[in-house]
Amino acid sequence: MSSSTKMKKPIINVKAKTLLYPFLLFSAIIITLFTELAAAPQQLFKGFTASPNPTTPNFQPLLSDSTGNFSLTFLRVNQDQLALAVLHVPSGESLWQANFTEPTQWDKHTQLIFNGSIVVTNHHSRVVWSTNTDGDLVVLAGSSNLQILKGEKSPSVLWQSFESPSDTLLENQNFTSTMSLISMNGLYTMRLGPDFIGLYAKFKSLGSGSDQIYYRHRAMQAKANIIIGHGPILARISSDGFMGLYQNGSTPVDIESFNSYQRSVPGPRRVRLENDGNLKGYYWSSSSWVLDYEAISETCELPSACGLYGLCRPGFGCSCLDNRTLAKVDQCYQTQEIKDLCEESTNKKNKISEIRRIGVELPYKELMSYIEMTSFEECEKSCKQNCTCWGVLYNNGSKFCYNVDYPIQTILEVVGHESKMGYFKMWEGGKKKRDERLGIGIGLLSGAIIVLGLVIGFGVYKFWKRNKMVNNHNSILEKEDINAPGPYKDLRSSSFGSVELSNR
Ligand SMILES: *[C@@H]1O[C@H](CO)[C@@H](O)[C@H](O)[C@H]1NC(C)=O
Ligand SMILES: *[C@@H]1O[C@H](CO)[C@@H](O)[C@H](O)[C@H]1NC(C)=O
Ligand SMILES: *[C@@H]1O[C@H](CO)[C@@H](O)[C@H](O)[C@H]1NC(C)=O
Ligand SMILES: *[C@@H]1O[C@H](CO)[C@@H](O)[C@H](O)[C@H]1NC(C)=O
Ligand SMILES: *[C@@H]1O[C@H](CO)[C@@H](O)[C@H](O)[C@H]1NC(C)=O
Ligand SMILES: *[C@@H]1O[C@H](CO)[C@@H](O)[C@H](O)[C@H]1NC(C)=O
Ligand SMILES: *[C@@H]1O[C@H](CO)[C@@H](O)[C@H](O)[C@H]1NC(C)=O
Repeated sequence: MSSSTKMKKPIINVKAKTLLYPFLLFSAIIITLFTELAAAPQQLFKGFTASPNPTTPNFQPLLSDSTGNFSLTFLRVNQDQLALAVLHVPSGESLWQANFTEPTQWDKHTQLIFNGSIVVTNHHSRVVWSTNTDGDLVVLAGSSNLQILKGEKSPSVLWQSFESPSDTLLENQNFTSTMSLISMNGLYTMRLGPDFIGLYAKFKSLGSGSDQIYYRHRAMQAKANIIIGHGPILARISSDGFMGLYQNGSTPVDIESFNSYQRSVPGPRRVRLENDGNLKGYYWSSSSWVLDYEAISETCELPSACGLYGLCRPGFGCSCLDNRTLAKVDQCYQTQEIKDLCEESTNKKNKISEIRRIGVELPYKELMSYIEMTSFEECEKSCKQNCTCWGVLYNNGSKFCYNVDYPIQTILEVVGHESKMGYFKMWEGGKKKRDERLGIGIGLLSGAIIVLGLVIGFGVYKFWKRNKMVNNHNSILEKEDINAPGPYKDLRSSSFGSVELSNR
């Protein structure tokens, strides 16, 4: 009898422990969150200064809105760099980031002050960002709009983050023709035209020429018309679940509806220009962001779904233009090695190879200009002789010759359409580098396998140890399990690469 009661004891312990673990973890997260938030004020006055705390793992709140759902923070990116961001606290999603002039370290000498302007200085005391205002007060409005106010009674807004968005547009934020959304990697931009929303890619080498448009949504003008010369249009996300285009007044000239159109949702809505060039809409469901809109729904229609010199087949996936198999995104060509073909053609050491393919077309050809030519040979010849031309696509049915004047991005594979063909130039220097990178990749892979082995080994050891503890009737919780990482999930590691890219 006595032995059977002894047997039961560990079982009860295990049960209690399984309940206790998530409870303690949850409490720990909630407590850290609320103690940190309690520390963040709801207004900043002149004379406010703050520096990042070296031990803060994810983000450090500086200013909170009245609900505690949004917070202006120092945000840690790429481990040791700092961004000034407005976060949606429950998800840790960054909704806005200050556009620093240079990458800034998470360093105790980096400083934010409010002296009428919000000014961020780096550890060399250089100003990396300033609002250039002379205000009295900083607040974070409930909509996540960071504002600098002037005056006591009925204060005026001198500056607001809603007027200089990053990659995200929030519910009720006015997006005007003087603004742009820029994806975190700096490659893609959203802007308004006289009667459309356009998405543009920075494919051309910097300094030479404009961005390439790859998506255009024209206003339908069903309920109201755009009157040219009567002011620019603006875009706004409605809480009713659509993105509206307006010219004057509150009647939209166009409605782009989301999946949750005319449904009330628990949390805020936002659209973001993603790093793949797509424009996506989300709403907060109280526990996660739900995707309810995509401007480009077919992966192959994205501006560069398979990277440089990639080939995308709808429903099939990526391969490479030059028939090498097993291509992953961005592996058909090494990005950093893109050169100006006009410079390279005078350099005899470098070779430019040619690729010809049938059954191919451009993903956004209706937005590309073309010239009518009688044959593919003529179309190809016009490209061969012109060093600003990277390739041509020809349709032997319509006789249209499309000129690509930027490094070849992903091309669409149209199986069975032998009348659609392409001719592409590829700078050979770039291919060699790719092979080197493959070597590095294999090195990294074996490193990762070793690390994985260690992790598994450690896990097995801990499992063994824990079982031993249970057997010993020992229910002490291991400390490291309580110190779980906070709720911040998406560090968007590419964000600073983007700053470098756009500043070059
Ligand atoms: C605030 O500080 C910055 C940087 O030190 C300085 O350039 C700016 O003139 C100051 N602004 C005001 C209103 O004092
Ligand atoms: C950041 O500033 C640079 C230089 O002023 C500009 O080219 C870039 O478009 C800005 N990026 C954003 C997201 O506003
Ligand atoms: C957006 O613009 C409308 C007028 O078009 C204005 O009534 C509204 O206050 C603006 N919203 C914000 C957040 O500035
Ligand atoms: C935070 O947002 C949620 C919806 O996502 C809302 O239900 C809640 O009331 C907000 N919190 C506060 C304190 O207002
Ligand atoms: C790639 O393969 C296809 C079909 O297998 C062939 O028609 C095409 O000529 C090849 N292209 C190149 C560049 O080798
Ligand atoms: C293009 O079409 C013409 C007929 O319009 C045909 O004679 C020619 O062979 C085709 N060229 C190619 C390369 O398919
Ligand atoms: C070369 O191609 C570019 C477009 O890539 C075009 O603007 C230019 O007129 C062409 N030059 C000649 C000489 O054909």
